[in-house]
Amino acid sequence: MATLKACSALVTGANQGLGLEMVKQLLEAHCSKVFAGCLDPDGTNSEALRELAKKHPSVITIIRLDADDPCSVKESAKKVGSLVGKNGLNLLVNNAAIVANGTVQTSSIEDMKNTFNTNVIGPLLITREFLPYLRTAAKASGTPGMSCNKAAVINISTLGGSLSRMPSVYEQFPVLPYCVSKAGLNMLTVLAAEELKADEILCMALHPGWVKTEMGGEKAPINTRQSVEGILSVIGSLTEKQHGGFLDYTGKTMPW
Ligand SMILES: NC(=O)c1ccc[n+]([C@@H]2O[C@H](COP(=O)([O-])OP(=O)(O)OC[C@H]3O[C@@H](n4cnc5c(N)ncnc54)[C@H](OP(=O)(O)O)[C@@H]3O)[C@@H](O)[C@H]2O)c1
Repeated sequence: MATLKACSALVTGANQGLGLEMVKQLLEAHCSKVFAGCLDPDGTNSEALRELAKKHPSVITIIRLDADDPCSVKESAKKVGSLVGKNGLNLLVNNAAIVANGTVQTSSIEDMKNTFNTNVIGPLLITREFLPYLRTAAKASGTPGMSCNKAAVINISTLGGSLSRMPSVYEQFPVLPYCVSKAGLNMLTVLAAEELKADEILCMALHPGWVKTEMGGEKAPINTRQSVEGILSVIGSLTEKQHGGFLDYTGKTMPW
């Protein structure tokens, strides 16, 4: 892993897939505080996360966080804020998302609304509510420039949100509601980067590759370990040069 140093981090959607693997690898990277955002901390889907947190109670805190529910987002931010104190929160990873199949001819209004809610409005509200703690971390760092060790928002996006790349794989992946929402997340990233540059809070979008998870399916060529090793290596080496950018898990620039 590159240079991701001891820090505090919040990962949303941390009970399975890429989110759970990020929590594991942040722990291995000796991150001092890892907040695992979770839709249903008591659910059967969260057993692996609960087990991990039980083994590392001084590092991992499970935080109930439903990206679709503004009250839950507010509550989770308040809780994390009280736990990070004067050091603030260094790293926010907006990872939680849902996928929905569909084309122009078949996508339902419900799927369009649900994907937009979870994949765009969720990260917007989460970024807004956690901003005070990111600002605290940026100020507390006392170092110039931008980095994930200082204060950063990483939005987990996808090639599916790339206007120039998605059409060529649309036939293979007819997931229009998901792609439209992730294109929205990309714009959110660019505008957040514009808005937060004065605070020296790094914002960027990251494509994790096609990964074997519930969302990625069994045919995906890489596993969560490989993807997250790449992701953490990339985000550990980010500076203000990548602010407002879109990279994949190998560090390659993605076209918008
Ligand atoms: N896997 C891939 O090939 C791939 C490719 C490109 C991009 N991505 C992106 O990578 C990220 C992680 O995907 P993944 O493959 O790990 O998917 P996943 O295994 O389906 O996990 C998605 C996570 O998001 C959570 N979630 C869903 N709705 C939520 C909500 N309203 N509030 C809070 N959490 C919510 C899920 O919680 P529950 O388990 O409780 O439902 C789950 O923990 C996503 O942003 C996805 O778009 C994945």
